[in-house]
Amino acid sequence: MRKKTDTSWQPVAGWYKKSVGKEGHTYHQEVVLPGLLSLLKIHAPKAQSLLDLACGQGVLARSLPQEWRYAGVDLSPSLIAFAKQHDRSALHRYYVGDITDPALDLGKELFDCAAVVLALQNVEEPHQVFANAARCLKSSGTLFLILNHPCFRIPRQSFWQVDEQKKCRFRRLESYLSPMKIPVQMHPSQGKDSPVTWSFHHPLSSYSQWLFESGFAIEVMQEWCSPKESQGRLAKMENRSRQEFPLFLAIVARKR
Ligand SMILES: C[S@@+](CC[C@H](N)C(=O)[O-])C[C@H]1O[C@@H](n2cnc3c(N)ncnc32)[C@H](O)[C@@H]1O
Repeated sequence: MRKKTDTSWQPVAGWYKKSVGKEGHTYHQEVVLPGLLSLLKIHAPKAQSLLDLACGQGVLARSLPQEWRYAGVDLSPSLIAFAKQHDRSALHRYYVGDITDPALDLGKELFDCAAVVLALQNVEEPHQVFANAARCLKSSGTLFLILNHPCFRIPRQSFWQVDEQKKCRFRRLESYLSPMKIPVQMHPSQGKDSPVTWSFHHPLSSYSQWLFESGFAIEVMQEWCSPKESQGRLAKMENRSRQEFPLFLAIVARKR
């Protein structure tokens, strides 16, 4: 039997807790959380409960309306401990668990919504995550996926480049359709001593196929750009390219 990769962020938990903090890092604060909260309002206006798969240190729990029931699951005990420590709500609970485990046991509660925020590409078997989400959602429940855009942000395979003649910055893509398992050095300046996390690339069509096979229909997709702005000589070119190539993909899928 093939050995499962340990994809937990436990080895980098200390760093991740600090870099996300209580409010989220810049992308959480300026793009991901406002975008997700707005999608929740539109696509699940009556929802009162949410299952957060790979919840990390609980940044989404701290952003939800107070009256919602919430469950967060993550493989990293330290991140779950941080989440619990910063959450006083009696309606929230946390589990250390593997969201790709077909035997994942979160009790009997069924949820109105489930979310996987910036974590789908950190698990080895996304289709198992969809199967677990389908099992834990009420009928017609909604699944929200926020991921690094799989078409434009592939670690080690996609880069910014500048065409000096055309004075434009563009995205260079060296591969896309092949699935890939990519080690990511979290602190590159430490070289070989840097802790490594795993990123798993799949083309968009694989995600849509797995969602369909797990009983979901895609309702909407949105593509979100970086809010950063360059200054100086290359600002115009850089800002324009940032608005052309989105950083994040949001997928809303409904349980059929
Ligand atoms: C980039 S972090 C995102 C965490 C959180 N959703 C956020 O937005 O801050 C990826 C998370 O996926 C978790 N993870 C990776 N594989 C997992 C698995 N199989 N089951 C549960 N959690 C997993 C890691 O421990 C880590 O906390």
